[in-house]
This record gives sequence, structure tokens and C-alpha cells, in this order.
Amino acid sequence: MCGIVGYIGHQSAAPILIKGLHQLEYRGYDSAGIALSGKEQQAFHLFKAKGKVSNLEAKVSSVDSAESASLTTGIGHTRWATHGEPSETNAHPHLSMSGELALVHNGIIENYQLLKEQLSGYGYQFKSQTDTEVLVQLIDYFYQKNGKQLMKAVSQALNKAIGAYAIVVMEQSNPNHLVAARKASPLVIGIGKDNEEFFLGSDATPLVEYTHKVIYLDDEQIADIQPGTAVTITNLDESLANVNIKDVDIDISALSKGGFPHFMQKEIFEQPHCIENSMRGRVIQREDGLYEIKLSALTNFKAKLIRARHVIIVACGTSWHAGLIGKQLIEEMCRIRVEVEYASEFRYRNPVIEKDDVVIAISQSGETADTLAAIQLAKSEGALVFGIVNGVGSSIARAADTGIYIHVGPEIGVASTKAFTGQITVLTMLALALGNALGTISEEKFQNICSQLTTIPEKMEMVLKQNDKIEQLSERFTYAKNFLYLGRGYNYPVALEGALKLKEISYIHAEGYPAAEMKHGPIALVDKEMPIVTIATHDELYHKIISNMQEVQSRNGSILAIITEGDDEVKRMVSEYVEIPSIHSCLVPLLSVLPMQLLAYHVAVKKGLNVDMPRNLAKSVTVE
Ligand code: G6P
Repeated sequence: MCGIVGYIGHQSAAPILIKGLHQLEYRGYDSAGIALSGKEQQAFHLFKAKGKVSNLEAKVSSVDSAESASLTTGIGHTRWATHGEPSETNAHPHLSMSGELALVHNGIIENYQLLKEQLSGYGYQFKSQTDTEVLVQLIDYFYQKNGKQLMKAVSQALNKAIGAYAIVVMEQSNPNHLVAARKASPLVIGIGKDNEEFFLGSDATPLVEYTHKVIYLDDEQIADIQPGTAVTITNLDESLANVNIKDVDIDISALSKGGFPHFMQKEIFEQPHCIENSMRGRVIQREDGLYEIKLSALTNFKAKLIRARHVIIVACGTSWHAGLIGKQLIEEMCRIRVEVEYASEFRYRNPVIEKDDVVIAISQSGETADTLAAIQLAKSEGALVFGIVNGVGSSIARAADTGIYIHVGPEIGVASTKAFTGQITVLTMLALALGNALGTISEEKFQNICSQLTTIPEKMEMVLKQNDKIEQLSERFTYAKNFLYLGRGYNYPVALEGALKLKEISYIHAEGYPAAEMKHGPIALVDKEMPIVTIATHDELYHKIISNMQEVQSRNGSILAIITEGDDEVKRMVSEYVEIPSIHSCLVPLLSVLPMQLLAYHVAVKKGLNVDMPRNLAKSVTVE
């Protein structure tokens, strides 16, 4: 939520910042801005624009190229509004009233009203409605008071601020100096050759083009960044902190659309390959033909995982839907009781957590504020925290005691697709491996599911081949006002996910329901105007869901059915269907979700909407 970039060195900062903002635009896109500096005591060059980064880019391109080359320090921001409407005035960077400091900020300063009143008492005036402007004035207050020592002023101000922040500050008097800090909101510093230049970002994606050496700031750390010198880091109490430099490796091709019109479509079609990556080196066929699952997290924490009598899964959004599938997988294969919690509820609910509990945190970004807070709560109660994360080196990956990366590569489209199937793949491997270790799954069943799991990539390809058919089907759904998605068992969370995908990008109201629950309310809505997407694949509940479909049809409801290939019974019942290959029921979600993703995608495209950056949403929700 909100993207931050920064650059300091010998190159022109503006193009680096603009490119970085484009790469971070998925985090928020209601306004953007940059501040540039080059010469001592010269006023900052400030550019802001409402809307997308391309609007800002157009404004910045007016700078004369010789001048631009001399502006070698800068900070930039792409915003997802929390305080104050999207506007140029509320866009970052914000300047202090003295004009001597410029700041970009991601997060929320919760006590900003109180601080604002205090600062007003000292004569400070405010132009925007943001909490960020309060923070820059607060830093300015200490800066002016303490002989313009920026590091000291930042630490004094942050000691007064309550809330979450990732910030980068620049000062007019010294263009060769940036100060960055974080608490509960990510910030990465990329180190250029011989410390001659530094790159900053909310995540590592804008940096990897320039460097693979990075520092992930920890909570309540402040970094002092000056070209020609190694970064020094202090804690909020001004004591020195260790500087840990890490190598980061991100496939840059994942950051482009690769010939697809949208990232979302590219990411849907990447799934067979992503699932192969998720399983690589983990699902192993031995020479005798039998399978085994190797997960280092399980080997290293085997005793604790085996002892667990209770698993709590915490997550938000699509990751929470993956958690619901994880519950069924773990209960079926490991016979351990599993609860699935919205992280935002769990963290404030005084939940019962015991020392032998295992808390599984699922997150694509690894930065979701509520999930991170839920982890901290679980750790404080002594539970083992197991992360299932995509964002390598992310805050959740680092906060968890152990875990498994899903390895599907950067996901850029705001609506999650490949991360969902990656999360389910990892949950399946975890449930299989743990069930095997516990002896709660028979060898025959273990071998059968492992072997079917390895066929998922090719079966996904078969489903994706029906893209054109789904595109045609989507035509008549663009006019719908409401959708119902129904599924049972393993397909119930898929129904929830299908409805969420449609809502997120097409702005059509949709609800997911366990099919039998339809009778307890939603059936009142059924008429010929309302499309009902029903997942009716061959499993233990097949005949039950056929009955649910008949209930819909007797009320003139129009059904789009997701069925098992060759199911003539359902084909005779409904006029619209998409077939998926037959697979073990616990693996069906990996296939049945694909038509849902494609349907939402095509409906949104046909409605002329921005599928990669839907209104009001953000990819990485770093505020609670
Ligand atoms: C946002 C995204 C969703 C995502 C959710 C949880 O709402 O738009 O796609 O499912 O956050 O994010 P996480 O990164 O923790 O999986």
C-alpha cells in the first residue's frame, strides 16, 4: 500500500524514480509525486500529479535534460489514500513549512491529530489533510531545534509518532544525504557499486535492475545514506544496529507483460509453470517410482509440527481462501484440528493460543499489516509460526519461525491468481508430508495424491485451452448486476475466490456460498437475470450439488457449470459449462479456479475496466 522509491548517486534521479514508481504502482495508484535535488540550498524540484504515474511522468518530462542530469538525488511515491482524498495537495512528497525537508511515507501515523495540534501551537501551518505532512513538520521541528542534524531529528520525531511507517527524508542543505526508516511497513535499500549510489524501494523490484545487494531495514531502524560511505543504521534510541547485506535475485522478465495485454492474463497463463516451480525439489519421484516430499521446514521443525494438536491459519483476502482449502487438506490428511482466521479479527480478539499450537500465516506479498500483527501475537504466546509466502525476504517471511516459499515469482496484477494456486500447492505438499510423518495418511493414498499432484501443470494447460470459449461466454455476463458462486467441500473456497475475483476487477456484486446453504437465504435472489456459477465436479458430494443445481433451475436460474470432463449428465442439464480434467477431489481447486479467474478477467476486459489496477484496491495492504 503506497510505493516508495529513492535514489542518491551520480545519475539523473528522475528516470530511475519514475521507472521504479511504475514498478511499484500496484501498491497504490491514486496520485504520485517526486522531489529532486542536486545543489546545496536550492529549493527542491517538486512534481505531483493526481492519478497514475504516467500523469506524473508527463509533468517530469518538462525538465530540461541538462538540469535533470544535475538532479542526482530524489524521492518518489505512488499513493493509496488513507488520510485525505486523492489530490495533488495530498500527494507525496510533502515538504516541511520551512521548505528544508521533503518526505515520502507509507503507513499511518495514528496520533497525527494530537501532533498536529502541538505543532500548530509552535506556529506550524499545514496545506494537506495528510498524517504525512504532520510527520515532516515534526521532523522539521526537531531539525531546527537541534542544529539541523537530520538523523537525530528523525529519531526524535519517530519516538513521538505512534503507528506504522516507512519513510525517506531528504534535506535541502545537503543533497548528498537521505535518511530512511521503517516500522511495520517495508523498506529496502539497494547498494550500488563501491557505495557510490543507493536505491530505495518499498520492495526490491525497482532495485534489482541496478544491484543485487540489499539491506532490508528492520522495525524501528533508521538508515543514514550518503554516497561514498557505507550505510549506517541506528535504532530508535540512537544506538548502532548491525547492517545485514543480503543478495536478492528476482527474475526481471516477471516484471513485464511478456506479450500479454495485462499482467493478470499473463499470470493466469503462467500457472502451469509456477506450479512446477512450487513443486521443484519438493515432490520427488525416487528411482523405485515412489514419491516422497522434501520440505526443509518440516525436517527442521518436525518434532514441534508433529506435536501440534491445533493449527490456526491466519491470512487476508485470497490468501484466506487458500487457508480454507488448507484446513480441509490438513484435517483430511493429518487429522489435526484447524481453524482459519481473518488476521484482522484474530489480532484483536484475544484468541486462545497455546504453546504447542502451530500458526500458519499465508501471504502473497509477505507484507500485509494484519497478518504480520497476527504473527506477532502468535509468537508472543509461544506458538510456532509457519509462513507460506511469495515475497522473498518480505517482513512475514522474516518474522516467521520457519516456512515455505511458494516460488511463483512476482505477482503484479492486483487480483491474485498464481499466488492462490501456489499457496494451495504448498499447503497440499505440507499436508501430505505431515500426514506421512504422523502416519495419518495411508501410503497408498499418499502415493496416489503425490502422483496426481505432478500432473497438475499439464492439466492446467488443458483448462487454459478453453480460454476462447470462456471469453465468448463472458460476453453475456457483462450486463449482470449480481452473481452467485456455489461449491461444496474443497470447491466451496473456490466459489468464494471466484466471487472475489469478479467483484475485484469487474465491480459486479458476487457472493460465494456453500451450495447447500443457498436454501437458507440466497435462493430468494435467484431469477433468470442472475448468473449462478456452480462447481459440480465428480467427488463425494457430486450428487448433492446436482440436487442444488436442480433447485436453481426450478426457479429459472441460469447456470454456468464447471464440470468434470465428459460429464454428460450435467451437460444435458445446463447449456453452459466448462470442463476440467478428472483429478483427486483434494486437488480439484487447482483446476476449478482457473475458469473463475478467466471469467472474471474477460468480463472486466469486456467492460473496458483496468484489470491490473482496479479502483480503490491495492496489491500490498500495509495498513490495517
Ligand atoms: C489485498 C490484495 C489481495 C490479497 C490480500 C492479501 O487485498 O489485493 O489480492 O489476497 O491483499 O494479501 P497477501 O499479500 O497477504 O496475500
